[in-house]
Amino acid sequence: MHFHNILINWYLKNKRDLPWRKTKDPYHIWLSEIMLQQTRVAQGLPYFLKFTEAFPTVFDLANASESYVLKLWQGLGYYSRARNLHFTAKYISEELKGEFPKNYKELLKLKGVGDYTASAIASIAYDEAAAVVDGNVYRVLSRYFGVKTAINSTVGIKEFKILAQTLIDTKQPGTYNQAIMDFGATLCKPKNPLCGECPFSDSCVSLAENLIDQLPVKEKKLKVKKRFFNYLVVVTSNNKTVFEERKGKGIWQGLYQFPLVESDVAIDGNALITTEKFKELFPKSTTLSLFNSKDIVHKLSHQHLYTKFWVVKTSGINKETTSWEQVKKQPVPVLIDKFLEAYTNQNK
Ligand code: ADE
Repeated sequence: MHFHNILINWYLKNKRDLPWRKTKDPYHIWLSEIMLQQTRVAQGLPYFLKFTEAFPTVFDLANASESYVLKLWQGLGYYSRARNLHFTAKYISEELKGEFPKNYKELLKLKGVGDYTASAIASIAYDEAAAVVDGNVYRVLSRYFGVKTAINSTVGIKEFKILAQTLIDTKQPGTYNQAIMDFGATLCKPKNPLCGECPFSDSCVSLAENLIDQLPVKEKKLKVKKRFFNYLVVVTSNNKTVFEERKGKGIWQGLYQFPLVESDVAIDGNALITTEKFKELFPKSTTLSLFNSKDIVHKLSHQHLYTKFWVVKTSGINKETTSWEQVKKQPVPVLIDKFLEAYTNQNK
């Protein structure tokens, strides 16, 4: 038996009785699918009932005020969904005379409708064989086939969409799509899946290999750290500067740089001159000017460096000074190299 036959047999016995399953009206299906994104069926259901009662047709929704739509949406979260919903209702009622686009490709053009929603509406309302891939589908497919590709990676997204598309029942795509989502939501659950009752238990790869708890794989997106760099470009009265080796572990160890004041947040000149490093470097008075009016954002794999170059003119400094010729001979990070280029050009 095909994967889709086993799945649909299971669904016909176990499916949830839901109001949007009693209609082929694309308006109702669209409403339900937008509401169910990032939302469990039990949470979305009362909102679906409220909306269909308050706005029986797409024209009613279009004619409502945005604040009323948002009010009814209150508590469901991700409010851009409600604003897009309202925008699209107006577009459909005014530009398309109330007629919903009739296929996946056209549905995808609607605001707030992505691959998932376009596939769901096209398959459920129009019997188009467009496979949905939501969190449930990722889980079911990764477990059953033992696919270890990360579901939030670019290759993973493509791989699972292709796999889902090869499995869909082309004769009843809407039923198939809803079956795999119900199966994922109620049997092949994230925690404690009911493998003992599963119709796929004799051919499920992750069950055989004891991988259920490890699938699907999700790539941890490392949080990008923001750092705020203030380079002090010293200019002495005899036109020398200060250029030093970057010490310690971490980025750019061994490369050369201007004295650096790193801060937790972006700072201005007033804050800069009160820092310990600044006071220590410049016991005498200075004139300070900011070279780049907007922060230069230098992007590394796990950190973004928001950088200011401060030109500090001074007659006295507690540091060994370096000639600009010498500066140009030192190994530097690209960020400093670009600055030197711009700075020298300006001072030509
Ligand atoms: N989650 C989102 N839409 C769904 C649908 N139509 N059936 C089951 N689960 C869903």
